[in-house]
Amino acid sequence: MSLRLGVNIDHVATIRNARGASYPEPIRAAELALAAGADGITAHLREDRRHISDTDIDLLSDLCRKRGRPLNLEMAVTEEMVGIAVRHRPYAACLVPERREEVTTEGGLDVLRGLDRVRDAVSALRGAGCRVSLFIEADPAQIAASAEAGAQVVELHTGAFCDSVRAGETERAAAILDRLCAGSVEAGRLGLEVHAGHGIDFATVAPIAAIPQIAELNIGHFLIGEAIFVGLPEAIRRMRQLMEAGRLHTEQAA
Ligand code: PXP
Repeated sequence: MSLRLGVNIDHVATIRNARGASYPEPIRAAELALAAGADGITAHLREDRRHISDTDIDLLSDLCRKRGRPLNLEMAVTEEMVGIAVRHRPYAACLVPERREEVTTEGGLDVLRGLDRVRDAVSALRGAGCRVSLFIEADPAQIAASAEAGAQVVELHTGAFCDSVRAGETERAAAILDRLCAGSVEAGRLGLEVHAGHGIDFATVAPIAAIPQIAELNIGHFLIGEAIFVGLPEAIRRMRQLMEAGRLHTEQAA
């Protein structure tokens, strides 16, 4: 199975908004990312609009439609966000937990506890033609609840794995990676497509890419940061190389 890369351009908007300026423009980053080999663009419209704005979503929707590439809209499970997604009909919608006080999406969605609400959102989004994914921890109960909620995809949260690798916590990292592998197998068994994302950098991408069930990675913060030093196209090219090397390793071992 090939492994797709969705590039999350939120943090171009973070830099723009830090000055209340009109630049740098997320749409320009999206164009560059697609030209450099991103399979799709991911953007998170947060309720507080701290980075991506409604206008950005209009522009990104037009661009992706024109280029025939998927836009993956990350969003909280709220009436407002579901309404926006239903109006824009992005190729994909990814439901994430959201708290105003968090710096970034800190954990997975609790599908188990919010099953009815999530099921309603999934149904509205699927009705608008979106492929719906739920951003969850690699926990068997959350995976089963995601299938029950009617999602086609689960995106497994890789933040804890990436943090533990960076902290040099080898055993903890190995244990989390095992959970990601087992979760991917279980999701595949339930007929769910498996994606992964959060916190991925050059040092952590290969072992995640090596999990054979994973079809897509969504990567943002590291790529936008690395782009400061090497440019966005080069950062994406290098990430793709490392993804492919990780995946090749699995294919050769099979
Ligand atoms: N996937 C999801 C569902 C996310 O919420 C995020 C962060 O917005 C990402 C992927 C990308 O994470 P990062 O910016 O850490 O690469």
